[in-house]
Amino acid sequence: MPLHAETAAGPLTGTLTPPGDKSISHRSLIFGGLAEGESVIEDLLVSADTTATRNAMAQLGATFTDDGNVIRVRGLGAAGLGAPDAPLDMGNSGTAMRLLAGVLAAQPFDSVLTGDASLNSRPMRRIIAPLEQMGGRIEATEGGTAPLKIHGNAALQGIDYASPVASAQIKSCVLLAGLFAAGTSRVTEPRLSRDHTERMLPLFGVRMGEGASLEGPQGLKAARVRVPADPSSAAFLVAAALLVPGSDILLRNVGLNPTRTAFFDAVKAMGGNLEITPDATIAEDLEPIGDIRIRHSGRLRGIDLPPEWVPAMIDEVPILMALAATAEGRTRVTEAAELRVKESDRLAVMARGLQAMGIEVTERPDGVDVMGGQPASARVDAVNDHRCAMSFAVLGQVMAGGVDIDGADYIDTSYPGFVDDMRSAGANLGKRAE
Ligand code: S3P
Repeated sequence: MPLHAETAAGPLTGTLTPPGDKSISHRSLIFGGLAEGESVIEDLLVSADTTATRNAMAQLGATFTDDGNVIRVRGLGAAGLGAPDAPLDMGNSGTAMRLLAGVLAAQPFDSVLTGDASLNSRPMRRIIAPLEQMGGRIEATEGGTAPLKIHGNAALQGIDYASPVASAQIKSCVLLAGLFAAGTSRVTEPRLSRDHTERMLPLFGVRMGEGASLEGPQGLKAARVRVPADPSSAAFLVAAALLVPGSDILLRNVGLNPTRTAFFDAVKAMGGNLEITPDATIAEDLEPIGDIRIRHSGRLRGIDLPPEWVPAMIDEVPILMALAATAEGRTRVTEAAELRVKESDRLAVMARGLQAMGIEVTERPDGVDVMGGQPASARVDAVNDHRCAMSFAVLGQVMAGGVDIDGADYIDTSYPGFVDDMRSAGANLGKRAE
């Protein structure tokens, strides 16, 4: 049954708190499971992706108790993980698979990581290469994809790794393996990717070196984490309010880590009216949060997206493309080839969808040009990619006749309350019987 979205009846209004940050939620569950003692996680994202991580940590011996919006994790200490009795199924989540691969490569037991069809087609050599340099042994398919058979080696060596791509998943994988390895592990990358691992490990008692580096072996101590609202989920509400005439919404407690906020800069550059009020009580080394007020700002203008902004909005390019479809003039995205190896080939999926709406989109291997226009009613396929599905649903709010979106069920991987939150603000969307 497709998700149908269609012209909102009036302005979007109200105050909302988007769901917990997905990246920080995965890390809270993994770090809590590795720590000695009981960690407390508040406002965790409960979604298909984070449930995969929680289940995997439980298979490795961590125990979880739910208490409203608080989850307690009892870890066994870094040396206390036990061999899983079955393959660990990471579902749709690249973060879960790549971060756990780092942990598992360093264990004194073997394990298998697998996922759904999308995850099992995503590139894993990018983590296998550094882990093998550390002494790990991992078997993948011939194409370098999962299932991954990990032959544990409790005697890994630290590594100084120059990652060819800006990727927090690669960086975090190496740092997590480095926690168990002898000597220094350090990762440099062409541009800074999200730095949640570097900010959060010290909360769990880990001494970090300069940048993304640490000395192993080191254990983790239980901690208390309050998960900010996810700026990547907030981006859909921001975009919807920018598109629908007269809208005025307030988003509370949104993560404002500068490695995540380039989408907000991009929409401001397009003429969007965003008022960001940081919470001044949060220490600089922790995860900054704040409130964002968004008011409809007339027709946005297309921009040339500065390539150095791409890593800090890597998950927001699909929704930027949706906004570009109605903006004045051309929006150009470059140096964004990574988008092609996400949950889907996001440049291609978005280009196809927008073209079906009559929008002119030109694809290049590393980017797209979108010519703003008047998207026309269409049926599109989100190819089971949550962020593409939500991007089309937001655009539907200003489409006469609306849009039918196939492959939208995976919205649950990151934002299970998306349809309800959008509707509560006044948006027009829901499942349509065929
Ligand atoms: C994530 C890193 C990014 C991002 C993903 C979450 C993380 O992936 O796209 O949604 O939590 O570390 P890459 O590191 O592959 O760019």
